[in-house]
Amino acid sequence: MSTLPTIALLGGGQLGRMFIENALRFPLQVLVIDPDPEAPCASLASDLRTGDLLNEQVILEHTRNADVVGIEIEHVSVQAMQRLKAMGKRVIPDPDVLRIIQDKGSQKRFYQEHGIPTSPFVLIGSRDELHAHTDLLPGFLKSRSGGYDGRGVMALRTGTDIAGAFEGPCVLEKQVDVAMELAVIVVRDSHGQQVTYDPVEMVFDPVLNLVDHLRAPARIAEPVERQARSLAMRVADAFGAPGIYAVELFLTRTGELLVNETAPRAHNSGHHTIEACASSQFDQLLRLYLGWPLGDTTLRSHAAMINLVGEGGKGSPMIEGAEKVLELSAAYPHLYGKKETRNGRKMGHVTVMAATHEALDHAIATVKAHCHVVPARPITTT
Ligand SMILES: Nc1ncnc2c1ncn2[C@@H]1O[C@H](COP(=O)(O)OP(=O)(O)O)[C@@H](O)[C@H]1O
Ligand SMILES: [Mg+2]
Repeated sequence: MSTLPTIALLGGGQLGRMFIENALRFPLQVLVIDPDPEAPCASLASDLRTGDLLNEQVILEHTRNADVVGIEIEHVSVQAMQRLKAMGKRVIPDPDVLRIIQDKGSQKRFYQEHGIPTSPFVLIGSRDELHAHTDLLPGFLKSRSGGYDGRGVMALRTGTDIAGAFEGPCVLEKQVDVAMELAVIVVRDSHGQQVTYDPVEMVFDPVLNLVDHLRAPARIAEPVERQARSLAMRVADAFGAPGIYAVELFLTRTGELLVNETAPRAHNSGHHTIEACASSQFDQLLRLYLGWPLGDTTLRSHAAMINLVGEGGKGSPMIEGAEKVLELSAAYPHLYGKKETRNGRKMGHVTVMAATHEALDHAIATVKAHCHVVPARPITTT
């Protein structure tokens, strides 16, 4: 490519920031739009415009001079993405894929229609309808749209929980007997060629309902690893458009693999690829945007990624215990530059690499014991 394209990113959070960190190896223009003028991309973007990502006109205006349009959050105007694609811009993910994925209900239906194994479910229009589906309990209730990082998802154990259930259009799915949660990131280019990263094992925080830490490779037998990769590839094949597909899977106690959900973008489960793989998920995205060949996904070492979520209340963020972490032989703390820390908010992460799973256990424990993001000046309520 003789001249480098201008890239417009919808969303200015940490995923955008990590994308730009790598993209800045080239003299690229990355234009970002986010509702928050102090979003993590603010200090790195060529330009950061504030605006509503669901407003078609705002998006069209923002992307006017861009050749490529990408997202780092799903909740953006699909109509705008469609118009941009029709104008001949390279739009990743494809608007049709995004429309399906934005709605957890249509996403589940998509898996069902494509013969992709997923947990049994029903789509409901309002809370009252739940009473007719108690056969699916214990289960999980998910708002069809707008959920993110565990918000918009609740466990329903018995019929008595229905009184406190979400109102409005939801997916009710049967609870899966999960032995392990896995994620496989697939990268698909415009020729339909696909590569996968090693399946990673996701360990969730049961209270916050978001990833506490993950490790790569997942501790699974080789046939399961192959099946996980091939199931994730089937998902990307079914979507059939270029992009990154982060496929979340449940490995059940009976050894079955089910697709939970897919994100059509860079994903928390791929942050370790920055240091642990030859080509990271953000590098692959850059290659896709530029029309370049896909990169090498090989995992160079065992790796773990520990999320740093805000603790100790609200305030301007401060990282504690980074020195202890940096004593480890291969540790990479990341702070996303968010201006305010809050309990449970993703503020950064630490990637650690080690030769064995045992050494990784030690590194994970060290990070968890010492490294915290807390308010610099805690706000007291007294
Ligand atoms: N059907 C299910 N069975 C068991 N656990 C589930 C089920 N659905 C969701 N969960 C749990 O809730 C978490 C969040 O659900 P998910 O649909 O992935 O929402 P989010 O958009 O918040 O990531 C999952 O990672 C898993 O731990
Ligand atoms: Mg999820």
